[in-house]
Amino acid sequence: MATTTTAKLALTRRPRRLRRTEAIRSLVRETRLTPDCFIYPLFVVEGAGVRREVPSMPGVFQLSVDQAVQEAAAARADGVPAVLLFGVPAEKDASGSAAADPDAPVQSAVRALKREIKDLIVITDVCLCEYTSHGHCGIVEGDEIVNDITVLHLAQAALSHAVAGADIVAPSDMMDGRVAAIRRTLDERGYENTAIMSYAAKYCSGFYGPFREAADSTPQFGDRRGHQLDPANVEEALREVEIDIEEGADIVLVKPALPYLDVLAKVKDRFAVPTAAYQVSGEYAMLKAAAARGWLDERRVMFETLTGIRRAGADMIITYYAREAARALR
Ligand code: PBG
Repeated sequence: MATTTTAKLALTRRPRRLRRTEAIRSLVRETRLTPDCFIYPLFVVEGAGVRREVPSMPGVFQLSVDQAVQEAAAARADGVPAVLLFGVPAEKDASGSAAADPDAPVQSAVRALKREIKDLIVITDVCLCEYTSHGHCGIVEGDEIVNDITVLHLAQAALSHAVAGADIVAPSDMMDGRVAAIRRTLDERGYENTAIMSYAAKYCSGFYGPFREAADSTPQFGDRRGHQLDPANVEEALREVEIDIEEGADIVLVKPALPYLDVLAKVKDRFAVPTAAYQVSGEYAMLKAAAARGWLDERRVMFETLTGIRRAGADMIITYYAREAARALR
């Protein structure tokens, strides 16, 4: 074996030429992250002055409306254009009636955010699981979530968000026909400019664990397999996306992100509509926990996962890292 540096191979293709310096690597970079693609989730609770950290999600807090306004203003200043609101009501009942209450945390937060923060895009999660005493995403009869009556409740919740001033409503329940019902309800009431971001391909995932602690929405019995997608399926996800687009979804969402990048790529490829991905609570908690033990370089894996999600086809990313990533990109 020649060890001398004068040994030369007659290569015409030397891909390493374009990896020589950071400037060249940057010139040929195919995927760029910018803060404009981040959506920052916030958990809104009752009360004032409340800022309670979620144990399994370091850096994520349950916030009362005043604190949510502060947090969103800070995020906006960091360059994050949008927030996604989840409500954690004090009182829950079997039909999740607080979901459409104009004075519940989410509706109050929407009004405050639209009033206080210029140019902030306010998106609201539409689901019943945070509002029902049993923690299910709809109205339960026996051990079944009854689809059509649930859809009526969801449409009323979405309407209450639109009335409060939400720019975009985001149904995350995976009931059949909810996008059409929400679109019709909003249009009938004059909210034809409120957009719908549907969680079109939402998988039945173990990665939602920490969220359920944050939103206090763990089902008291059973699970969500009767409506969320089987992790083994991709054709079924594409059918779901197609249905939601036909029903009027303006943006479609794939969730979780990292274990479903193939689904995300196919959705973007096939439908070519604005596509979002949700880097969910468990994905975030996993990185945080490993980083806390010194097992991963957090900054690096944060950017690596976000870049991967974007490379796979996401136009926008819902992530608990939104502020941190936006700040690091400045
Ligand atoms: C349902 C909803 C869930 C998440 C977003 N919307 C939980 C579930 O389906 O159980 C999970 C988000 C996350 O894990 O970060 N309202």
